[in-house]
Amino acid sequence: MKTLLLALLVGCVSCRPESREKRYDGHQVLKVFPNLLENFKNIEALGEKYNLDFWHHPKHQNGTFDIQVSPDQITDVLNDLKLLGADTSVWIQDLQSIIDEAKPSDRQERAAGMISMQHYHSYAQINGFLSAIAASNSHATVYKLGTSLQGRSINLIRFSTGTTSSGAHKRSIFMDGGIHAREWIAPAVVLYMIDQLANNPNNDPDIASLLDKFDFYLVPLVNPDGYEYTRSGDRMWRKNMASSYGTHHSIFGRCGSDEMGVDLNRNFGHHWNPGNGGSYDQCQETYAGPHALSEPETQAMAHAIDSVASHALVYLNIHSYGQYMIYPWGYTAQLPPDAADLDHLGRVAANAIYHTHGHRYTVGEDTVVLYAAAGGADDYAKGHSGIKYAYTVEMGDTGRYGFLLPESYIQSSGEEIWAGVKAMAKELIQKYSL
Ligand code: ARG
Ligand code: ZN
Repeated sequence: MKTLLLALLVGCVSCRPESREKRYDGHQVLKVFPNLLENFKNIEALGEKYNLDFWHHPKHQNGTFDIQVSPDQITDVLNDLKLLGADTSVWIQDLQSIIDEAKPSDRQERAAGMISMQHYHSYAQINGFLSAIAASNSHATVYKLGTSLQGRSINLIRFSTGTTSSGAHKRSIFMDGGIHAREWIAPAVVLYMIDQLANNPNNDPDIASLLDKFDFYLVPLVNPDGYEYTRSGDRMWRKNMASSYGTHHSIFGRCGSDEMGVDLNRNFGHHWNPGNGGSYDQCQETYAGPHALSEPETQAMAHAIDSVASHALVYLNIHSYGQYMIYPWGYTAQLPPDAADLDHLGRVAANAIYHTHGHRYTVGEDTVVLYAAAGGADDYAKGHSGIKYAYTVEMGDTGRYGFLLPESYIQSSGEEIWAGVKAMAKELIQKYSL
């Protein structure tokens, strides 16, 4: 018995971390055209039945559901879809091969305060970049907003050149990325913007005037635990790493792993409601948590958003994919009273994005353009904290790589989003005579 135990222990010493990596060999992603109106509901029900991961939900009849299906489900799912009369085509034949194609290469950086825009970086590298900037740049300060479930700090970097000439707090722009773990392009683009503000690598004459008019608050990684898990465990993980809600529900363990996770973008406290575009089921991708702001990550963000609210004009919650610039409310189809202002500024951004690399972003209210989902960060920022221009940005692409955008897209994504942010800032300088 003892030798067996020893053998097992020794055996595990040689376990490579890669051997714990979840693989997606033969998993497919389907593009499903509902065709019939009633199929919008029928296909959602199919998702519940097979516990499928919906990468995308269509808003209009010519849109598609993008649905990830495991090899053992594929025949049944295709059969059910056929019976419904929904047209289906295979978008991704073998998810694992796309994951391998878009693997992070994780280079060593050249110098402190520099970070490559050709690569996706680890949590440690991201933090190293932030601290090096703060150490060398007198306008930059790093704040710890809170601690994730697994003990990682959630960091914010602020760029501020001081008060306005009359001594008032400058208007602020707050942006965050990485609330959803697998959307790697989001933290990468927030880092791109941090690099612009800190290092001005393109000698952009606008940087000085932007910093003269605004304070910038950037959180590159809202969900560091989930992000690290996508780098070493499960590339398709979306939520945080909560595992402890088994006591709230009697289904502990039924997801097939300890990591149940909460969808942090269903967990914010403005009209939180798992039944509205989220889920009560902790095994689902959109599990909203046991109560509003139950997670340390959302608590940290809510506190940070609240504390800038008196001077913040813009809040951007950055995601991928689909190319949308959308605004509250996510919890209702009713428009906020100043929807026309948000729509206008959203179009200013989308226009600048279009003129950078020709990518079209759809602008509109959350539920009109995408789908209803309560508990989002954008609703919180506008509805609870009162930041007027609150948006969810869904970056590229529109469905070639989806969540698995290769590293070679970081630079161009950064360029276009930064162009959008700059255009918004310029518009606001005019409008508010800043
Ligand atoms: N794809 C994002 C999500 O599912 C969209 C969020 C839009 N905002 C909202 N409050 N529903 O989280
Ligand atoms: Zn997302």
